[in-house]
Amino acid sequence: MKIIQVENQVEGGKVALELLKEKLAQGAKTLGLATGSSPEEFYKQIVESDLDFSEMTSVNLDEYVGLAEDDPQSYHRFMHENLFNHVNMRRDRIFFPNGMAADAAREAEDYEARIAAAGGIDMQLLGIGRNAHIGFNEPDDAFARTTHKVALKESTIEANARFFSSAAEVPREAMSMGIGTIFRARHIVLLASGAEKAEAVRDAVEGTITPRVPASILQLHPCVTLIVDHAAGALLSGKSEP
Ligand code: GLP
Repeated sequence: MKIIQVENQVEGGKVALELLKEKLAQGAKTLGLATGSSPEEFYKQIVESDLDFSEMTSVNLDEYVGLAEDDPQSYHRFMHENLFNHVNMRRDRIFFPNGMAADAAREAEDYEARIAAAGGIDMQLLGIGRNAHIGFNEPDDAFARTTHKVALKESTIEANARFFSSAAEVPREAMSMGIGTIFRARHIVLLASGAEKAEAVRDAVEGTITPRVPASILQLHPCVTLIVDHAAGALLSGKSEP
């Protein structure tokens, strides 16, 4: 795992933008994108750049179950407001798992097929939850292979309540790419900032590889870049550096 220490989210966003430019220059066509506060600066900087997305496809990591696309809290809406409304990506090349699907298992299969049809994910962006979840892959007994419906942990509902008027309004379920889906991305970029992520970052980077710490699987991936600010990286021993 390559670890890049940065001062703050703004600097982290700049580093991620440079990585994206490199990938695009190498012919990347499919981006796996993430929501949450971690990628916000990155998206701002993409919007300010002159990058051409006209040939790109994006597949988002996850979506809440039961929120319509235009719900102010849906990830669909977040991505449009923060990125898609401001870049020249074709609307028919933007994909999310559908949290309103009547048949979740069928939707999950279709989403995997979409990713495969797009040629797989060239660069997958990730944030990390306080319990080390990635996408909405919560700590569990096993790593999920593919896109699936998940029940959110109480700690995740509490953490995400800041985007809603109360915790009661946070959906209890989501559709998420699986750990296997994420793992098949050719390059993974994990953004982490803030002291509340320090334990998750340490456990993910230096701890035992276990589905109880979903992000720990990234230790086995051949091409991961962790962009971490001082607060989130404060508990790293440095021994994990390549
Ligand atoms: C959410 C999302 C994740 C995200 C994580 C961290 O639960 N499903 O994809 O990485 O929270 O969010 P934040 O970046 O806001 O801390």
